[in-house]
Amino acid sequence: MNFGYFDEQRKEYVITNPKTPTSWVNYLGTSDYCLIISNNASGYSFYKSPKLGRVTRFRFNSIPMDRPGRYVYLKDEKTNDFWSISWQPVGKPLDKFLSICRHGLGYTTFESKYNSITSSLKIFVPVDKPLEIWEVKIKNDSNEKKEFSVFTYTEFCLWNSMLDMMDFQYILYTCRMGYNKEDEIIDYSIKLWSPYEPKAFFTCTNKKIESFDTDRDVFVGPYNSESNPEAIKNGKCFGSIAIGGNPCAATQVKIDLQPGQEEYLVFLLGIGNAYEEGREYKKMFASIDSVEKEFEKVQEYWKERLNKFECKTQDEKMNLMLNIWNQYQCHTTFNWSRSASFIEAGGRDGLGFRDSSQDILGVVHSIPQEVRRRLIELLKAQLSEGYAMHHFQPLTMSQGKHNIPPRERIYSDDHLWLLIAVPAYIKETGDFSILDEIVEYADSGSASVYDHLKQALEFSWNNRGKHGLLLGLAADWNDCINLKDGGESTWSTQLYYKALSEFIELAEYIGKTEDAEKYKAYREEIKKAMDEYTWDGEWFVRGYLASGKKLGSKESEQSKIFLNSQSWAVFSGAFLDEKGKTAMDSVKKYLATEHGCVKNWPAYVDYIIEVGAITSFPPGLKENAAIFCHANTWVIIAEALLGRGEYAFEYYMSFLPANKNEIAEIYTAEPYVYSQFITGKEHPYYFGRARNPWLTGTATWAFTAATQYILGVRPHYKGLIIDPCIPSCWDGFEVERVFRGRKLSIKVSNPDHISKGVKKILVNGKEIVGNLIPVELLDEKNVVEVVMGK
Ligand code: GLC
Repeated sequence: MNFGYFDEQRKEYVITNPKTPTSWVNYLGTSDYCLIISNNASGYSFYKSPKLGRVTRFRFNSIPMDRPGRYVYLKDEKTNDFWSISWQPVGKPLDKFLSICRHGLGYTTFESKYNSITSSLKIFVPVDKPLEIWEVKIKNDSNEKKEFSVFTYTEFCLWNSMLDMMDFQYILYTCRMGYNKEDEIIDYSIKLWSPYEPKAFFTCTNKKIESFDTDRDVFVGPYNSESNPEAIKNGKCFGSIAIGGNPCAATQVKIDLQPGQEEYLVFLLGIGNAYEEGREYKKMFASIDSVEKEFEKVQEYWKERLNKFECKTQDEKMNLMLNIWNQYQCHTTFNWSRSASFIEAGGRDGLGFRDSSQDILGVVHSIPQEVRRRLIELLKAQLSEGYAMHHFQPLTMSQGKHNIPPRERIYSDDHLWLLIAVPAYIKETGDFSILDEIVEYADSGSASVYDHLKQALEFSWNNRGKHGLLLGLAADWNDCINLKDGGESTWSTQLYYKALSEFIELAEYIGKTEDAEKYKAYREEIKKAMDEYTWDGEWFVRGYLASGKKLGSKESEQSKIFLNSQSWAVFSGAFLDEKGKTAMDSVKKYLATEHGCVKNWPAYVDYIIEVGAITSFPPGLKENAAIFCHANTWVIIAEALLGRGEYAFEYYMSFLPANKNEIAEIYTAEPYVYSQFITGKEHPYYFGRARNPWLTGTATWAFTAATQYILGVRPHYKGLIIDPCIPSCWDGFEVERVFRGRKLSIKVSNPDHISKGVKKILVNGKEIVGNLIPVELLDEKNVVEVVMGK
């Protein structure tokens, strides 16, 4: 069963049945002002930080689902009947109410038809202004004159989201609402310690505001809800001014419509003072033309970002995801890290070190300059000893060093992701100058980026355990495994092996042979430890607990095999051999399902303190034997590196969101973006159900896996590698890509129907040797013909 469809032409996902099993959301806004909006117009807005600058409220995990939001109600003055343009919160019976929600790139629209009235609401955030625009259109399709009151409503949050949820005795007495009568603008300000000035405004730019409310409790009325506000029933707002209490912005505008007539209304909710910025923006967006122009800029912004990569394969859904939604999600995770969603209530403000380091991979081809800035930000959160702050807020970093983690909060992987991220940036851009940039450490001193990378390697070298594998420290990529107090992580060791290899390749390329030799010796030592202590006969163990017991071994009582230590054995480059193959065969045998591979098997059933938080989840959920999508992307890469194109593609398809559209009642989350996990096969009821959509490292890695390893178009310091690994039934595929400012139209043909192997490459008609296209060969525009074969 589906709740909507993909409109490829308009790059939208269209929700035709608003009664979705979970809130299906979109992210709007790209810089300071952002908002999240569901298919029923709910969700919240924030300025700069979802934790410290929360503008509007959302009641997390509430019933009814997803409230409040940004609501526009229409009331027919003759019949007193009223409804909301988005189906909720009034929620008219769906047999009489046509509702369509379109989530597009940087905007969301709602269209409804009820009692011969067609209406729409489009919401977007300008690229460079701290506000959201609500564009409302109402058309009278009946043959009689209609008189309407249009009510709008949004509930303010008291800026600091944590206090807003927890400390009512204080926070509820901080707001001071007002009304700029002359310009008809609601004025919201609160006196509160905050790095920003907590001020916002709300207005209608092109029609007279008949009445308003700024006190939620007055507008909604006791024992009512957003579904039936008192003011709407009353036919007029009460003019309330909240000085303390729960602030809101509610307005009433009146319009008359002759048969066939259409009217539009523009509302603004923004940051600033009602007497200054509010007034200025009201003038700026008084006409629909100015709103449309602003909207075009948003569309241009997204077009610009998405047009650096486009592919045409034999699989429509793969094209749809790679060309539109997967890229859009990559930009969203890059912008928002893991900070704001309907499940991240505000506590994960700022950047997660490992998350954001990975998030750059999916956007570096599109916004290299922004990636460079982000890398420098991340490097500033590294400590002089080499490890990194697990989580930090760049906005408050400079205000003090209080965020520096105590030693028990040092993770074994955070800093090592720099060795993936920085080389990826240089390979894409050719910008080696970043290596010489001097960046301060979070604690003391500064060093070149090149030396920052070396410090990261040194830290891990100095933090190995009894078996010579990396100590797990606070945790590795899997936050929920307890590897403290001397536990060792196979996976972190594999990441270290990869990090060393990346560094060696880089050092050799720039002529730092001594460094290359030094780290080759480290790598050899690490490989020895891996050979000796990580192979378990059919697969690789996940690590060693503090007690010395193996984790994820045939000797383990529960969870005998884990996914990451198999995929990364191969992806790291350490085991591109029979052992790697056998390990991946074990993945197929024990972990693969029709929705993707579970993360460990059999699931932990009991809580085991020694193993840690992973065992607190019931079987099949989250880190305990769910299909953790992020980890599934590495399975694709491993299979591609082994040359097994059928498997790589099968795994890719197994958790591709677009493939879940027709089973949305089972999948339940948005079928246009990746979720963090899909419930695993050992869950008694919900196998196949997805949770925690949008802000997941899956986005960046699914894009990387598909574009660089299945389609095999992979940047290298010297140029672009073409190394596809595809299902042998494919006749070929095409990729349009921008690389270092040059355009390439790559056409791959597969006459012999193989999975891997390139026989011939012609660049602008000239054959090259091997499968690396040197950047010097490239003109501004290039035609690349690739023939696969042995
Ligand atoms: C979440 C975290 C990520 C972690 C993963 C596995 O997605 O954001 O940092 O690696 O869970 O525990």
